[in-house]
Amino acid sequence: MRKQFFAVATLLIMTIAVQAQNSKPAGTPLYKNAKAPIEQRIKDLLQRMTLEEKAGQLNQVNGGVFTGPAANDPGQKAKLDLAKKGGVGSFLNVIGVAETRNAQQAVMENSRLGIPLLFGFDVIHGYRTVFPIPLAEAGTWDLAAIEKNATVHAKEAAAAGVHWTFAPMCDISNDPRWGRVMEGGGEDPYLGGLVAAARVKGLQGKQFDAEHIMACIKHFAVYGAVEAGREYNNVDVSRVALWNKYLPPYKAAVEAGAATVMNSFNVFDGIPASGNKYLVTDILQKKWGFKGFVVSDWGSFGEMINHGYAVDEKDAALKALQAGSHMDMEANVSGRFVPQLVKEGKLTMAQVDDAVGRILYFKFKLGLFEDPYKYSNADREAATLFNAANRAQALEAAKKSILLLKNNHEVLPLKAEGTKIALIGLYANSKEDMFDFWIANGTANDAVTVKEGMEKRFGANNINYAPGYMADGSTDEQLVKDAVAAADKAAVVVVNIGISGKMAGEDRALANINIPEGQIRLLRALQKQGRPVIALVSSGRPLVLTNIQDITTAIVQTWILGTETGNAVAAMLAGDYNPSAKTVMTFPYALGQVPVYYNHFNTNRPAPETGDASWKSRYRDIPNEPLYPFGYGLSYTNYHYSNLSLSSEKITRSQPLQVRVTVKNSGKVDGEEVVQLYIRDIAASIVRPVKELKAFQKVFLKAGESKEISFVLTGKDLSFYDGEGNTRLENGAFKVMVGGDSKTVLEKGFELQ
Ligand code: NOJ
Repeated sequence: MRKQFFAVATLLIMTIAVQAQNSKPAGTPLYKNAKAPIEQRIKDLLQRMTLEEKAGQLNQVNGGVFTGPAANDPGQKAKLDLAKKGGVGSFLNVIGVAETRNAQQAVMENSRLGIPLLFGFDVIHGYRTVFPIPLAEAGTWDLAAIEKNATVHAKEAAAAGVHWTFAPMCDISNDPRWGRVMEGGGEDPYLGGLVAAARVKGLQGKQFDAEHIMACIKHFAVYGAVEAGREYNNVDVSRVALWNKYLPPYKAAVEAGAATVMNSFNVFDGIPASGNKYLVTDILQKKWGFKGFVVSDWGSFGEMINHGYAVDEKDAALKALQAGSHMDMEANVSGRFVPQLVKEGKLTMAQVDDAVGRILYFKFKLGLFEDPYKYSNADREAATLFNAANRAQALEAAKKSILLLKNNHEVLPLKAEGTKIALIGLYANSKEDMFDFWIANGTANDAVTVKEGMEKRFGANNINYAPGYMADGSTDEQLVKDAVAAADKAAVVVVNIGISGKMAGEDRALANINIPEGQIRLLRALQKQGRPVIALVSSGRPLVLTNIQDITTAIVQTWILGTETGNAVAAMLAGDYNPSAKTVMTFPYALGQVPVYYNHFNTNRPAPETGDASWKSRYRDIPNEPLYPFGYGLSYTNYHYSNLSLSSEKITRSQPLQVRVTVKNSGKVDGEEVVQLYIRDIAASIVRPVKELKAFQKVFLKAGESKEISFVLTGKDLSFYDGEGNTRLENGAFKVMVGGDSKTVLEKGFELQ
């Protein structure tokens, strides 16, 4: 009795305390300096909100610009008017201190309750200082650096009023036709998970302060499996593949504490992800305990009608919320239909309160109720964007991301002093083509081209430039002639080929991923002159580089490296540092191999690596092997692997296995090597891939130095998932393989008993 009395009294006092804070005229923020815990404040706020205001919190609108001439645009006015009435919980694409402050102020001063807006934006590889694309950055295998880079993305975005980015993308994909492979961490579930977690930590920091922003794991789930790499296409994967191959990166990012998750556009098991209870509630919220909120992808609630799953917009809103999704990006079905659905008894108030409460939680957590303009500080914006420290870090990231694929006769590095270089290629001199679709608030003008970087590093007098081809990769006689003439005056020819950065990102699916014919013609003409030809390949995905093997001396994959591209490329060519990237996505030998990936299954009839492959799983016209395997990348030195040893040939289920290997830098320069450990579960109740990455270390070795590297494998590393998401650890034979890429490995066997 006494206990109950105290409980009621405490609640009463807390409620009075909260309300005392809030008995302010409309237009001032609620809960300023409120002492009550967030949960209590959410509860209190939900009690004050009308059903329409709750529906408004679920509504995310593409904002854009509201000031200047846009202030009179009827469409923009309507959006802001809706927000003033409490009809918008979040804007996306409202960025910069001036715009965010203006929109926030409109809501704070006009809406009944003054619930601050959340501003979301796609900050995929930097906000203003553009870093390398995520696929290239993942190829550094440097988790600490990846996390540090993400802190810069966050710092810049947060200084410009942005609270929330739609990153990291955690979709595993084996299809370079898909334009979005650039946004992810590559083809491996384990590495992909570590990379995603590092990005989440970098973006969010340890706590939500004004230097960090909320992350959003996307696209949940299996969006990377779109058929034939075509954007917005169908997906059909098994539950075993879902659990083992696709889910691990999303799960790792959830475990790293990501605040939000985005639905994917595709279906899983015939049900669109936005309305897929199995994905959104059963796996994400129940099994993984995700407490944040789930935002749709652009219009994906409404697009369930196109899928043939929802009959109309009202049904779409119902199905999305019933599945456990929360915020509606741009379909505007929740905002319009949720009140009606509750009144009709189709949705319960508890369901709506759960969704709204999750969104309010982050508004409290970010401190927006205390200070709605916390992220909108003009001085901080001016001091932070594109400052020298951020650029220096982007340069470091770009250098580490450059992937050396071929280096015959050690033609690279070039002698930096006095070497006459012909630099050929339109992309080397085009700021426009350097960047992809996802450069956030970066501008092409800020970027250092390959030409600028090389002129600075090697001396403008030593660089003879000619474009060689047109923007689409085609060429003509004159362009080839000019290129050959430029090469005539040089000792070595550097040719920037590939495809325009504009072809990377969303809605950039390509059916043809070969090097354009015009560029091949150009390379042939240059190669005929007999000088070394070094190809720099720009692209947001692995292209088919088979056709350039015989007409190049060296191949450098330069991806899309961001603002500091030219400085990084020049430093790499000059040997100012030793490249160490290893590709996290397989380079196909031919398009017909796609999907081609290292962690494939053995099949019933694996083809032998050499000898007669009749009646085995093979192509008649090309090899099975890709051109460059996962984990592959050269440096300016060589590494030699030896003495692979295991602590035991038989281990029990609770006994860890120690794996040791000696790695020697057998070349003449210091360098960093990514030592990779793979396993194979020889026979299991569900068949397992021929190789699975389970550990790696990036080690620094001085020229001539040897180091013993040691790894520990536990039962967790040896287990896998069944189709229900249960883990299985099964006794039997395993193989351990260690090497510098997924193909060239030393191996040993052991038995789990
Ligand atoms: C659609 C894309 O699929 C998603 O990745 C992005 O975050 C949203 N648009 C918002 O721009």
